[in-house]
Amino acid sequence: MPTTIPESLTDGEIRLRPWRDEDADAQLAGFADPVFRRFSDGVPLDRADVVKRIRAVERQRAEGTAAYWAIDDAHDGRLLGEVSLSGIDHRQGRASVGYWLTASARGRGVATRAVRLAARSAFTDLGLARLELTCAPDNAASQAVAERSGFRREGLLRAHLPFKGGRRDSLVYGLLPEDLAR
Ligand SMILES: CC(C)(COP(=O)(O)OP(=O)(O)OC[C@H]1O[C@@H](n2cnc3c(N)ncnc32)[C@H](O)[C@@H]1OP(=O)(O)O)[C@@H](O)C(=O)NCCC(=O)NCCS
Repeated sequence: MPTTIPESLTDGEIRLRPWRDEDADAQLAGFADPVFRRFSDGVPLDRADVVKRIRAVERQRAEGTAAYWAIDDAHDGRLLGEVSLSGIDHRQGRASVGYWLTASARGRGVATRAVRLAARSAFTDLGLARLELTCAPDNAASQAVAERSGFRREGLLRAHLPFKGGRRDSLVYGLLPEDLAR
């Protein structure tokens, strides 16, 4: 079974590539966005933490347990956001998908494109059998990305995670190779 996580993927409109230390300021700006903060907890707050995160996720890529890609505009190289495969479990044939976009990159299908590229790679390059995605029940934009990419809503995980001092429910979505939208 193929197990290599590609460093770079493109569909001609966007390009996925590894994060680099020099992206720290742009990543920090992405984490400061109010929509991002509304749906995230425990986000790195300063540049040093962001550099640590970039190095940690690159170690996970080298170990084969996760792939966090920066999303660039394929035409001008502008940073648009991030898409990730995390918790890659080759024995179980599963991984989780995550994504965020900078405010100016939203509203034109970039996240959907990025999820499709990452999912296709997960099924073909890594040979995984199932991808999972969880999101807040009030995160309509994220649910729309999941559904446009072919994910099916499978249920509600009650009190799924610690969140901003309490616990939060999550919707759970699943994607099988045959669900992947063209
Ligand atoms: C979740 C998030 C990435 C969604 O971003 P988005 O821009 O709405 O999603 P997409 O990039 O797929 O774009 C879809 C929008 O572009 C439009 N669009 C235009 N061209 C399109 C195309 N070729 N393909 C798909 N959509 C297209 C869609 O109609 C949709 O617009 P609408 O919201 O007005 O219906 C963004 O809201 C975000 O960064 N949120 C904060 C982080 C977050 O919540 N992450 C998910 C945690 S679970």
